[in-house]
Amino acid sequence: AAGGSFYEKIGGRATFETLVRRFYDGVQHDPVLWPMYPAHDLEGAIQRLTMFLEQYWGGPGTYSEQRGHPRLRMRHVPFKINPDARDRWLQHMRAAQDTLELSPLDDATLWGYFDRAATAMLNTFEE
Ligand code: HEM
Repeated sequence: AAGGSFYEKIGGRATFETLVRRFYDGVQHDPVLWPMYPAHDLEGAIQRLTMFLEQYWGGPGTYSEQRGHPRLRMRHVPFKINPDARDRWLQHMRAAQDTLELSPLDDATLWGYFDRAATAMLNTFEE
C-alpha cells in the first residue's frame, strides 16, 4: 500500500534484488567467503537472500512459504563465521548498499539492521 512498508518506500523487489546481486558480485571475489557459498547455485543463493530481505522489510512472504521459519543463526551454523568473515560480509554489503543511493535516514535504517544481524551470526572466534 502507498506509504506502507520500508520495502515499498525504498523501491520494492527491484531495489532488494539489485542490492543482493551487487553484494554477490563482491562475495564472488572474496577468498574467505566465496568458498563457503554453493558456486553451483549462485542464482539460488541470490533468490534466498532477496526473498528473506523483502519479507523482513514488509514485502511478500515468499521466503517463509518456500523455506519455512528463517532461523538464520541455526542455518549459518555450518559456516565458520568469525569476526573476519563478518567484517568481509559487511564490507561487500556496504559497497552494494552504497550503489542504491538511499536517503540518509533509509540508508541508516538498512545499515543498522545489517550491522546487528551480521554480528548476531558470529559463531566462532577461531582465526
Ligand atoms: C545463507 C554466509 C550473514 C542471510 C548463507 C549461506 C552462506 C552464508 C555461506 C549459504 C548460501 C545459500 O545457499 O543460500 C554468511 C556469512 C555471513 C552471513 C559468512 C557473515 C556474517 C548473513 C546475514 C543475513 C544472512 C547478516 C541476513 C541479514 C542469509 C539467508 C540465507 C543465507 C536468508 C539463506 C538461508 C536459507 O534459506 O537456506 N549465508 N551469511 N546471512 N544467509 Fe548468510
